[in-house]
Amino acid sequence: MSKFVDILNKDNFSKQDLISMLDAEGTDKKLLYKKSREITDKFVGNKVYLRGLIEYSNVCIKDCLYCGIRKSNTNQQRYTISDKEVISCAQYALDNNYGSIVIQAGERTDAIFIAKITSLLNEIGKISNGKLGITISLGEQTLDVYKEWFNAGAHRYLLRIETSNRELFQKIHPINQLHSFDTRIEALHNIRKAGFQLGTGVMIGLPHQTIENLADDLLFLKAMDVDMVGMGPYIEHQNTPLFEAINLLSTKKERLELAFNMIATLRILMKDINIAAATALQAIDGFGRERAIKIGANILMPNITPGNFRNKYKLYEDKPCTDENPIDCNTCIDLRMSMIGSKVGYNEWGDSIHFKQNKKNIIEKTVLKI
Ligand code: 5AD
Ligand code: FES
Repeated sequence: MSKFVDILNKDNFSKQDLISMLDAEGTDKKLLYKKSREITDKFVGNKVYLRGLIEYSNVCIKDCLYCGIRKSNTNQQRYTISDKEVISCAQYALDNNYGSIVIQAGERTDAIFIAKITSLLNEIGKISNGKLGITISLGEQTLDVYKEWFNAGAHRYLLRIETSNRELFQKIHPINQLHSFDTRIEALHNIRKAGFQLGTGVMIGLPHQTIENLADDLLFLKAMDVDMVGMGPYIEHQNTPLFEAINLLSTKKERLELAFNMIATLRILMKDINIAAATALQAIDGFGRERAIKIGANILMPNITPGNFRNKYKLYEDKPCTDENPIDCNTCIDLRMSMIGSKVGYNEWGDSIHFKQNKKNIIEKTVLKI
């Protein structure tokens, strides 16, 4: 047996083990993907769950140095979808048996925005009779706001840490109160406290990022005991300050391959969580999301934002699906999934098994104490 197989078969992984997995190439890489597929089948099955993605608004108060919708990018026209259009997106997801939606937007913390989201969540709950699962990805908010949105019907929250390395986090964000590593960590704890299934993730292939940083990211996800992860390759955007660091980047293809190794390694490390096949994978390779699902991802987020807004939510360049309408995207999902031996879990929420298991353990422990 090769040494690499010994690593894959461990129950606990050291940072060095994770680095070996992230570095895997050739035969080792095949073994890594075989193992991550086996674990996916055993712990979460071969079903892929859909979350129809609504990119609600590209208005943002923040200025992350990598992001195309940052406040200071004056080249970007801004939009916010009308209530009526949001509801018709939710209706589209219902009609097409999607099971869940994700509402994502640039960050805003004003009272009008907070109340608007609450009322949209209530409205979506009404039209779907509580049938649609709702994930939200609306940035850093206070615990009270998280609670308000949870009570209005959202039950999963995505907030990427972007990188778990404080120094690197500071290199890719402006240094000010609005972009604080500690606030981000606190927000993640508050999301969980409010009752949400917690999702986070990182960008892969950032300038200055090392393989050790990525291994630490995996250990961070494990230590935070997250329920869901979305992570993908960093893709440079010309109208952002981080574009200047383009000479420090590996090729897009290399970033993509590293992202696949991250996904496979994460699946081996955190066997029963939900892992999304991020859109950024598809920006580099037309079948990037399918490749991710084959090796461990189990969540697909087809973009159901109305076509006229879609090319305005440009976090990075070459973002796919910007000029197609949702129907074009939807008709090929079944085919794409069957090509890789997966099935679509229509009309199912597909909640994180990890979350359900943790909840069950807590209840059992409490009962034992009583
Ligand atoms: N490349 C890849 N991902 C990006 N994101 C933002 N900008 C980029 C980029 N240039 C990701 C961030 C953010 C999510 C909504 O999109 O991880 O959390
Ligand atoms: Fe909007 Fe980072 S630029 S949250």
